[in-house]
Order: sequence, then C-alpha cells, then structure tokens
Amino acid sequence: MEQQIDCSFGTEIILLAEQLAGHSDDPSALTVAYLTRAHQTAGAEIAGWMIEAGMQVRIDAVGNVIGRYAAADPEAPVLMTGSHFDTVRHGGRFDGRLGILAPIVVVRQLHQRGEQLPFHLDVVAFAEEEGLRFRSSFLASSALVGQFDFARLEQKDADGVTMREAMCAAGLPGTEEAIAACAVEPHRLLGYIEVHIEQGPVLLERGLPVGVVTSIAGNVRQRTAVRGLASHAGTTPMPMRRDALAAAAEMVLAVERRCGDPRYAAQALVGTVGMAGVPQGAANVVPGQCEFSLDVRAADDATRDAAVADLDAEFARIAARRGVELSLSQTMRVPCATCSPRLMDRLAACIDAAGVPVLRLASGAGHDAMVMARITDVCMLFVRCGNGGISHNPLETMTAGDADVAARVLLDFLQRTATECGR
Ligand code: GLV
Ligand code: MN
Ligand code: MN
Repeated sequence: MEQQIDCSFGTEIILLAEQLAGHSDDPSALTVAYLTRAHQTAGAEIAGWMIEAGMQVRIDAVGNVIGRYAAADPEAPVLMTGSHFDTVRHGGRFDGRLGILAPIVVVRQLHQRGEQLPFHLDVVAFAEEEGLRFRSSFLASSALVGQFDFARLEQKDADGVTMREAMCAAGLPGTEEAIAACAVEPHRLLGYIEVHIEQGPVLLERGLPVGVVTSIAGNVRQRTAVRGLASHAGTTPMPMRRDALAAAAEMVLAVERRCGDPRYAAQALVGTVGMAGVPQGAANVVPGQCEFSLDVRAADDATRDAAVADLDAEFARIAARRGVELSLSQTMRVPCATCSPRLMDRLAACIDAAGVPVLRLASGAGHDAMVMARITDVCMLFVRCGNGGISHNPLETMTAGDADVAARVLLDFLQRTATECGR
C-alpha cells in the first residue's frame, strides 16, 4: 500500500493564509496597510487563532499581536518567533504571514498533546514591516527592540493622517511612554527564529523545500526631489527646458547602470526606483518637479554604501548639467544582519533530521529578524516560493507540502531548544 504523507500542518497553514487574505484594504488584491480597518480585523483574527491554539494574547502599543505559549515557570526565559502581517500593495498571502501561521499550528499541536516547553514561546504577529502607509518600515520590530523613532509619530500618510492619529483611531494609546513600554528585555531572550517564504528562486531551482538563512541584506532608502521649471509644453524650445522628469529619468538609468554592474553581482548589489511621480503634472506642462524613491541593498554594508555615494554624486552631475535642483533625504538605513552560527547549526540539524539536504543561503529581502538581531541571536528558515520565486505579487505561492516541512522543522527546533534549556 502506498504510504500516506501527513501534511496536516501544511494544509492548515494554507487554509489559514487564505482566510487571512480575506482581510484587505482593496477588494481586487491583497493590500493590508498599517492600522487600516483590514489590518485591525486581520490582527483580531490572528489573536483569535492564537487563543484557540492555547496562547495568552496581548496587543502592544504599536499593534503587535503577541501570543505567549507559557512555560510552567513564570520566570522562564523567552524564545521569540514571528513575522509581519501587513503587506505591500497587491502582495502575496505568505510574505510575513507564514512566520505567524506556522508557529500557531505547531503550538496548537503541543497544546493538544499537553506538552509544555521549558521556555515561554512568544509568537509575534508584527504589525508593520513593509512601510506601505507611512513609508517607514520595521515600525513594529523597532518598538520591540526599544528603538522606535518617535519623530515618526507626526509623519503623515497619503491622506494627511499622522501616525499618532492612526494609532489613536485604532484604539492604541499613541503615546511615547506606551510605545517605549513595548521594548522586550533582551536578557530574558533565548533568541528569535523567523520562518519566511524565500521570495526568490534559489530553493525552487535546487529542488529543496526549505533552507537556512545566513545573513540578511541591509538597505538604504532615499527620497529624491528634483526641481526644474514648469513651462508651456508647446512654446518652450527643447534646449531651453529644465525638465525635472527627464532629469529624474536619467538618474533612474544611472541606478540601473551602477547597481547592474556585473562586478558587484557577487555582493548581490541591487538598486530599485519603485515610486516616481510628477506633482501637479499635466500633459501640456514641462515637468517642474519630480520625486522618486531609491532602495539600494547588498550583502554587505560597504558595497551598498559605496553604490549610494556614487549614485548621489552622479545625480548631482546630472542635475548640474540639466540646470535642475536636487534634494536628497535618507528615509531608512538598516545594516546587514548576520544569523547566529549556533542557531543556524541547530536549524540545519532539524532540516537534516527531516531528510532534506541542508542549503545555506543569504536573504536579499528585509525581515523583522534583522531588527531583532540588534538585541538577540536570530536565525531564519526559508521556505520554497513557487511560480518561479515571484513575491510582492499576488502570484506568490507555496505548496502545503513545503509549508508542512517548515512547520515540522520549526517544531523540532523548539524541541531541540527545550533540550538545550536543560529540560
Ligand atoms: C520587505 O519586504 C523588503 O525586503 O522590502
Ligand atoms: Mn515583503
Ligand atoms: Mn516579509
């Protein structure tokens, strides 16, 4: 008789991910921005699942939903796991969410078996990682590590609502004191493990369901404003124009050229202009202003910083040649994070025990783990991404079989951590 493969963790994860994707700001595709109505109902649904699985749940002042599967000893140390539940615009249903749902199904099984751990397991559904609403990422994890930038509270979304107002409207205190109190005590932490969809093609190409992350690329984000001169599209001779958009277009191509230089491919240098706009633009007006974003990442900070410095210099040369003004402001700078060799080895042993060859790979995407790495040892389990590895797109997908392997590896990781803890 053919052996039946039990994918019950995986099937459950896929079902929960589908259900969670029912909360969206946009009915046509999954979009969950920080503290919108859909964000709040998604958080409430996650909280319900955590309670059902046997956890005690609290929501902190930035909206993180934190489920604790408590140890018998209240003074026990804490192992943290989790990921984010906000999304990019028209995102995928596994980005972030897998790292919340996998621990929930695993804890539910431990609870059903009456199996306690010798440490508190805190499952964190991080409220914000993507930066969609306020153009500032990692709000949730920065609060947990005690590094929330309070100036952000006055930052406005596209509708002019400040972050503080959004917090208050969502029933959160919106005060500096309450946010400062979100910080966890690093000395109580055993570490942080994050399960995440790979969001790239490496595991798919190697035919592997999971892999161990070695490091997470840091990124720099910048906002560039170009100011030229708005003038009549029909009467301004071509040589007399100070076209802000044409200047920006040259700058965008400079990004592609510098970051696409094959000499930096080994350092995984990438540069992206993901947003560009002409404020008050019109078809019959030479663009007087243009604003665009820049996101530069690499496997090491020095490679990335050198690229940003070269680009800033090149932007200045283009602006001078075209007679436009330039203003640059850095909106984010997150250093590269290295995963803990001790936790990576433990995770590799779990993967090996699951009968899967161990592949170690770097992450080009940013993750909550890179902020948690500022206060504790971190590791990450990557899970194969289907559809050619596409992510930040509704086509992002994963199989129940792969989600199942991930959950079983996570369970083994918890049990090995329990042994290390001297159960
Ligand atoms: C997060 O998804 C990032 O890498 O930008
Ligand atoms: Mn993402
Ligand atoms: Mn993510």
